[in-house]
Amino acid sequence: MLNIALPKGRLGETVYAMFARAGFECPAVLENSRKLIFDNEAADVRYFWVKPSDVAIYVERGAADIGVAGKDILLEYQPEVYELLDLNIGKCRMAVAAPEGFQDNINRTLRVATKFSRIARDYYTGIGRDIDIIHLNGSIEIAPIVGLSDVIVDIVETGKTLRENHLQVIEEVVPISARLIANKSGFKFKTEQIERLCRELRKEITA
Ligand code: PRP
Repeated sequence: MLNIALPKGRLGETVYAMFARAGFECPAVLENSRKLIFDNEAADVRYFWVKPSDVAIYVERGAADIGVAGKDILLEYQPEVYELLDLNIGKCRMAVAAPEGFQDNINRTLRVATKFSRIARDYYTGIGRDIDIIHLNGSIEIAPIVGLSDVIVDIVETGKTLRENHLQVIEEVVPISARLIANKSGFKFKTEQIERLCRELRKEITA
């Protein structure tokens, strides 16, 4: 049986629809229930709904053979998994944002609030800027408003959260999208099934 970790939420529903069209159906997944695990023995698949940021953990440790995770999570946690496909959905960008009118003073260490400490550190190391990372777990936009940080590094999708908090993008860090990932040994044992899924998904992506 192929074990598939889906990110709970709207993205996961889109992903499931793609997998179903690719021949990996399990209609019970769409039941409006509190159940989190669904099997379809006929199609030889089992789906679980997990928190989006946990998908890579399930896949890395082999509890799921494959899953779908955002490139942000893969860059931040660098799990030991195969990245098989860019699904071209869940698109957004990782960016540096600051209050309107912000001007960087390069003689001072820049205070950066973020949930993505590694991505932020790698980005600023790349441009040779000294920073102090303030790691937060959410609502990052508040940090520069209340003086906890100078800028933030965060995900921007529609830009609405930034606009409503009078922040603006000042630098682009990296584009983000959803990726199909696989456990390394699971891939060896279930190569045929996973490759069939990839072949079918590729048709959906280019379609
Ligand atoms: C993400 C991100 C931004 C927001 C961006 O937050 O951290 O706050 O979405 O989306 P927008 O550009 O469409 O407004 P999320 O909902 O994951 O919550 P959290 O980071 O506060 O936990």
